[in-house]
Amino acid sequence: MEVVCDLESIREGLKPSDWASRPLSVWRYRELLPIGRRIEPISLGEGGTSLHPCPRLGGMAGIRRLMVKNEGENPTGSFKDRGMTVGITKALELGKGWVACASTGNTSASLAAYAARAGMRCTVLVPKGGVAYGKMAQAIAHGAEIVEVEGNFDRALGLVIELAAKTPELYLMNSVNPYRLEGQKTLALEVFDQLGGRAPDCVVVPVGNAGNISAIWKGFRELEALGLLKPPLPRMIGIQAEGAAPIAKAFKSGSSSIDPIERPATVATAIRIGKPASWKKALRAVRESGGLMEEVSDEEILSAQRALASKEGIFAEPASASSIAGLMKLRESGEISGDEVVVCVVTGHGLKDPDVVVKSFKGPMGFQEFLSSMMAMGAGARSTQRSPSRA
Ligand code: F0G
Repeated sequence: MEVVCDLESIREGLKPSDWASRPLSVWRYRELLPIGRRIEPISLGEGGTSLHPCPRLGGMAGIRRLMVKNEGENPTGSFKDRGMTVGITKALELGKGWVACASTGNTSASLAAYAARAGMRCTVLVPKGGVAYGKMAQAIAHGAEIVEVEGNFDRALGLVIELAAKTPELYLMNSVNPYRLEGQKTLALEVFDQLGGRAPDCVVVPVGNAGNISAIWKGFRELEALGLLKPPLPRMIGIQAEGAAPIAKAFKSGSSSIDPIERPATVATAIRIGKPASWKKALRAVRESGGLMEEVSDEEILSAQRALASKEGIFAEPASASSIAGLMKLRESGEISGDEVVVCVVTGHGLKDPDVVVKSFKGPMGFQEFLSSMMAMGAGARSTQRSPSRA
């Protein structure tokens, strides 16, 4: 399902100067959101995330104009909040009191927060052992009912869809709910505004269940239909993790459908998905925009995560860093040129999944080890040894 906006009548009533007078946020673009005028949004201050120029990382990748849209700056630390503020406000408008989702972690953290804000009951189904600690802590803190499912995300999604079909009072909040995608499309509108009324040449997005890339593409298409954005529109580039890449594989083989992966595997738990619900929309977005899909290994993901954190000060969880890993790979293969204006979407904060960093990267050292390393490097070691209290 997809929300179709009556863009003709929106265009007549729309003054983009109204947008400019409002803070950069999801609700700046209220005219394009399917919520009645009299409803007060359930909001925690979502959207309005920074578009950071990344010259050092760009230098590493060989791209002159690289920017990162840091969705980790959202209230619960991921892009999911854009969709959730609209989805929960819609649930309120429809008179719902109980919301549910299946999740690899971020959707459940976000839904739990917004449901708490709206005073709704919240049930989340998660793959047992497959959710990063930070995300689980968020869902617990916000008081969600957390159900662990034996199996992976795809099974949890199947179960919650079945449950929703049998339980009319339960409102399903996965991205198969098209209202959520309406909130997520605002990322495109923000990037357009942040670039001074222009689009980049390409937008690189991590892909799991595949709702986000299609939502972002919808945002650009609506800007074009409103006469605000002139073609060419950006190429949409979707990145999946090698062990969970059914859409990338379908794209590369030119197939019109995906082969689901029974046991998806990747360090990027957020996108450990073998049967993405919105695969058709994602393939359409990529093909219509002249973009492409690529897959990256866990090693490439972790090294991109480290590069982004250490070169630019942006700490992203592994799934989020897959866009950076994909960019590096596509620059190397020549699919992205060094002159293109590139926006990489970094979808969630690194603190969501601290375990992976502690396990994969060099951790702390003892003071003696530190002194030895100073000695090995020569200068500076002696002065530190003489006055350890100042170290
Ligand atoms: N990045 C992060 C950090 C995510 O949490 C997700 C999806 C994605 C990328 C992929 O976005 O599904 O729209 O293609 N997380 C979902 C969840 C599945 O349950 O939190 P997508």
